[in-house]
Amino acid sequence: MEIEAVESREAAHFLPVVKRLPVAVVEGSGARLTDVAGKSYIDLTAGWGVTCIGHCHPALVEAISDQAGRLMQTTNIFYNFPQLDLIERLAAVTPPPLTRSFIVNSGTEAVEGALKLAHRATGRSNFVSTTGSFHGRTLGALRVIGQEKHREPFERIMPPSKVVPYDDLDAVRGAVTDDVAAVIVEPVQGEGGVNVPGDGYLAGLREICDAAGALLIFDEVQTGVGRTGRMLALEHENVVPDIVTLGKGLGGGFPVAAFLTTEEVAETVQLGDHGTTYGGSPLACAAANAVLRVVTEEKLIERSANLGAKLIEKLRGFSDDHPGLFSDVRGRGLLVGCEFNDPSRGADLNLRAVDEGVIVNVAAGRVIRFFPALNIPEDELFSAVDTVLALAAA
Ligand SMILES: Cc1ncc(COP(=O)(O)O)c(C=O)c1O
Repeated sequence: MEIEAVESREAAHFLPVVKRLPVAVVEGSGARLTDVAGKSYIDLTAGWGVTCIGHCHPALVEAISDQAGRLMQTTNIFYNFPQLDLIERLAAVTPPPLTRSFIVNSGTEAVEGALKLAHRATGRSNFVSTTGSFHGRTLGALRVIGQEKHREPFERIMPPSKVVPYDDLDAVRGAVTDDVAAVIVEPVQGEGGVNVPGDGYLAGLREICDAAGALLIFDEVQTGVGRTGRMLALEHENVVPDIVTLGKGLGGGFPVAAFLTTEEVAETVQLGDHGTTYGGSPLACAAANAVLRVVTEEKLIERSANLGAKLIEKLRGFSDDHPGLFSDVRGRGLLVGCEFNDPSRGADLNLRAVDEGVIVNVAAGRVIRFFPALNIPEDELFSAVDTVLALAAA
């Protein structure tokens, strides 16, 4: 089928809020996608940081198929065992104070839950967030999103919180007044262009929040589940926030997300403060359990750290050989960015890469973001990266 036929079919009925690449995908396996014409692509985006164990990992497919044939969904007035397993697992793989979790369906919902919790625990109603941040597209998340292009069109229905420059502790200190319930920060910014804060930033945030009686929320929807070479990116500084959000990689492709908190914060919630029809379904939790099992059994966190370090080394070497092309190469684990000196070079890079059989993303209009599956075969990663770099330098 020609892509033009797909485009015109969609154009008749799709709400046009998303810009597509001219590719209609029908299958995925590992780090590869196949389109309707049978062309194969290496996916350097893992479906936007989601398919952390690769597309259609057999263990995930089996867990979902098995659970689907048993019980997909119940009302949340019943206990269910996949959910019990998942909340125990989450408590075991995250820092000890984060013992309590609630399972939802998407990253933005996890952020909503986190903001509600912070309000409940402090009685305060303002928030501090950072420039370039991305926290989702529902209204509460839009309130704290740092990226103006997403927030500004809706400010009249959801007035923004205080947005301060990322990686600037003085700015946070100045903004955390006694009406602030929480500071919400990505430990490494993903959508904002793979921004890695300086050493001491996360610890500094903790100190500022403690002094001001505000909570600290780490949004790990993109950085969690091994993406940065640790289970959670907060482990790079061993700073424990009051609330953590997870999503994306948690379900490996199945929609599931979570927010986790401490006993102290959990004590402030009241029955009925939050709820969801689908969140924590047996099916979603079976998927997340399978992902966490595979991540551990296949040592994908270590792999993310090691392969990410090799990738950064390669990109830095390429940058040295092409002076003036990139202004920076940075990242943690398999969340790596190359920033163009001239952003116009990134403008249609994803389109040109698709022609060459590679799916790649340019974040914040100027940063090539590499965030493939954590188990991408090394030869596939580096051959796809070679393709992208050749296009970037052309
Ligand atoms: C850090 C962060 N938080 C929240 C979200 C929103 O997640 P979702 O698209 O699942 O609602 C994203 C999505 O990119 C994200 O990167």
